[in-house]
Amino acid sequence: MSIQNIKVIRVHQYGGPEQLKLEQVECPKPSVGEVLIRVHAVGVLPTDCKIRSGMLKDFFSVDFPYIPGSSIAGVIEEIGPDVTGFKKGQAVFGQSTKGAYAEYITTSVERLALKPDGISFDEAVTIHGGAGSAWAVLFDNAKLQEGQRVLIHGAAGGVGLFATQLAKWKGAHVIGTASTANVDFVRSLGADTVIDYTTTPFEEVVQDVDLVIDSIGGDTLERSWSVLKRGGTILSLVTHPSQEKAQELSVRAEHNIARPNREALRTIAQLMADGKIKTFISKTFTLDEAPQAHELCQYGHVRGRIVFHIAD
Ligand SMILES: NC(=O)c1ccc[n+]([C@@H]2O[C@H](COP(=O)([O-])OP(=O)(O)OC[C@H]3O[C@@H](n4cnc5c(N)ncnc54)[C@H](OP(=O)(O)O)[C@@H]3O)[C@@H](O)[C@H]2O)c1
Repeated sequence: MSIQNIKVIRVHQYGGPEQLKLEQVECPKPSVGEVLIRVHAVGVLPTDCKIRSGMLKDFFSVDFPYIPGSSIAGVIEEIGPDVTGFKKGQAVFGQSTKGAYAEYITTSVERLALKPDGISFDEAVTIHGGAGSAWAVLFDNAKLQEGQRVLIHGAAGGVGLFATQLAKWKGAHVIGTASTANVDFVRSLGADTVIDYTTTPFEEVVQDVDLVIDSIGGDTLERSWSVLKRGGTILSLVTHPSQEKAQELSVRAEHNIARPNREALRTIAQLMADGKIKTFISKTFTLDEAPQAHELCQYGHVRGRIVFHIAD
């Protein structure tokens, strides 16, 4: 029996969290290269809030009404034409190309991977936009090597908690920043040093760093230049660092846009299933609580990730 109407969240205009409307729509059909997924969980990413507010409208276009989100995990319900490598009934996770806040969604299979049994759907949605971004910035972009010193800002966040663990896994010396309430948490992730940014200016206690991962921007990015070694690298997840400043200090500085490939997604999921790295879900919401989930996400102090739990 084919699925008729499904619940989705749609946004009809830029604005606050109240723009996230729960609606019923017809279930989509997968087109060429796509699958239909019964969504079990969705990751609530800061980017989802930025797109909804209109903050990214000069860089990222949307067609209203649109379904927000990109990080999904679920079970393949139907296969579209010309899809190879996937079949009905498989549990998958990754990046959806057509939104995520929905009971069912169609998406290209390009950025999907098989979910191992050892992780839940809720855990799997902390990979795209979290662990995957950490992998891409540390390994694909920065080519982090064993023994290097890395400073990770926002080490308790959805990207930072994985960047901290993955950098340690690679054998780097990790320094993380967090507020008082998250210091012990970041230490539990394996960071060699944790700096409470509410009491200690990090630039007064950190020096000779090979790599800075900046997920905060603004003043945090500006104060990070002084901790870098000559020849070091600063990669910001949120903004374009000054190229004049980078030249002056003989360092590399970039806005990271690297994305993990399917192999990286698989490796991360297996590391999680094997207990070598862990995730943290601070709170789960239902789809109809989407405005509350965005309120919490845009507050900017969530530990780990917020997740929509949609189906068991
Ligand atoms: N370009 C890319 O490829 C890419 C990929 C993923 C994400 N992003 C962007 O990167 C940013 C971070 O993403 P995320 O998912 O990790 O966000 P998140 O989970 O919302 O991160 C929030 C974390 O930031 C910490 N924090 C807030 N202010 C801080 C400060 N001044 N110093 C140190 N830590 C601070 C908070 O810890 P405390 O509560 O302890 O303060 C909280 O744990 C977002 O803006 C996102 O859009 C970009």
